[in-house]
Amino acid sequence: AFEVAGMLKETGKVAYDPGFMNTANAKSAVTYIDGDAGILRYRGYPIEELAEKSSFIETAYLLIYGELPTADQLEEFDQMIRRHTMVHEDFKTFFNGFPRDAHPMAVLASSVSAMSTFYSDSLDPFDPRQVEISTFRLLSKVPTLAAYAYKKSKGEPLIYPRNELNYSENFLRMCFGFPTEEYEVNPVHAKALDLLLLLHADHEQNCSTSTVRLVGSSNANMFASVSAGINALYGPLHGGANEAVLKMLTQIQQEGISPEDFMEKVKRKEDGVRLMGFGHRVYKNYDPRARLTKKTADEVLETLGGNNELLDIAMRLEEKALNDDYFIERKLYPNVDFYTGMIYKAMGFPEKMFTVLFALGRMPGWIAQWTESVQDPDRKIGRPRQVYIGENERHYPGA
Ligand code: ACO
Repeated sequence: AFEVAGMLKETGKVAYDPGFMNTANAKSAVTYIDGDAGILRYRGYPIEELAEKSSFIETAYLLIYGELPTADQLEEFDQMIRRHTMVHEDFKTFFNGFPRDAHPMAVLASSVSAMSTFYSDSLDPFDPRQVEISTFRLLSKVPTLAAYAYKKSKGEPLIYPRNELNYSENFLRMCFGFPTEEYEVNPVHAKALDLLLLLHADHEQNCSTSTVRLVGSSNANMFASVSAGINALYGPLHGGANEAVLKMLTQIQQEGISPEDFMEKVKRKEDGVRLMGFGHRVYKNYDPRARLTKKTADEVLETLGGNNELLDIAMRLEEKALNDDYFIERKLYPNVDFYTGMIYKAMGFPEKMFTVLFALGRMPGWIAQWTESVQDPDRKIGRPRQVYIGENERHYPGA
């Protein structure tokens, strides 16, 4: 691929590749995906093994530093993250300035951008010590900012972090606790959240990660680059699919449509309707993350007791699709988003928080990819070419 790029340069030609379907923007050692075989590995480790044996924090270490930590390294890393969860008190004034109905994802993106102003002593991309400080600041403080964004949208008092709690427990308490009450974290929910964050931790050169790299390529600092990634993820085509799945399932439930009739509608492409949570640009096989979230959906929905109609509908849709020629021929399988919306809803999160939770999970991936790009000896500012289709030279009247 590099030779081709070199040849194009020599001939003065450019490659026109909308959506970058065939253009690699990086050499990366972070994540491997084989979409045809349904394989996802972080630093060589299969996602299934990490999901079973690791935690979000340990996986974050793996993604960022390239190796699994020893027990001591993990303890130190975890303690560092717990110790830096507080954000500057002045952030409260900043939050007060947003309208009450502001989307929490817009609030999160703005506040991460504002970290460049609050933590201006760690902005140099080429000072490893400053990069390390920014890494801890992002991993530790973004959950606090995300929970503040949620509390702001509810008009509820902000809850300070409690460092004796682990990452997921702390986040759930900051979202659902009240200053005047003891909040007991549901262990099934905390474990499920940890798993979902781990499954979202990286996915190589997707839209938001490429954005982080592109912004970083101008030597912009880590906070500025990551906040650009959050804004890219905010777009419904990238981060909004689990919300769309939940809307689809709720619509099927409320209108009393049978999953079978809905599938017929999808196959007729009536009103452009698609089976949301199915299909993927890269996976032409079962998304390995979807298998893992299906099991978690079962466990979390169980904590609500009774039958869960939405899960039943989802399972019937999936069963139907996996045995249907329309889906088989087009290689359409469940993707990670098919079950995550239901899990988040069962935990008590409103739909507009779903993308914020995605951003929380993706943080280690963005940091790892930004750092890798800063250290890349072939580093260049990102500057795509274009195919000009405008007017030829013409002249201003009277010129
Ligand atoms: N339901 C029904 N038909 C579908 C679906 C679907 N979910 N996805 C694709 N198809 C059909 C298309 O109509 C097309 O059919 P045709 O050949 O008869 O024209 C064929 O499959 C290929 O579809 P494309 O849109 O060309 O495939 P592409 O790889 O560009 O799109 C995408 C991938 C956007 C994810 C698509 O499958 C989709 O819209 N899925 C639903 C939305 C969704 O779940 N997105 C989340 C992706 S995961 C993530 O971002 C974390």
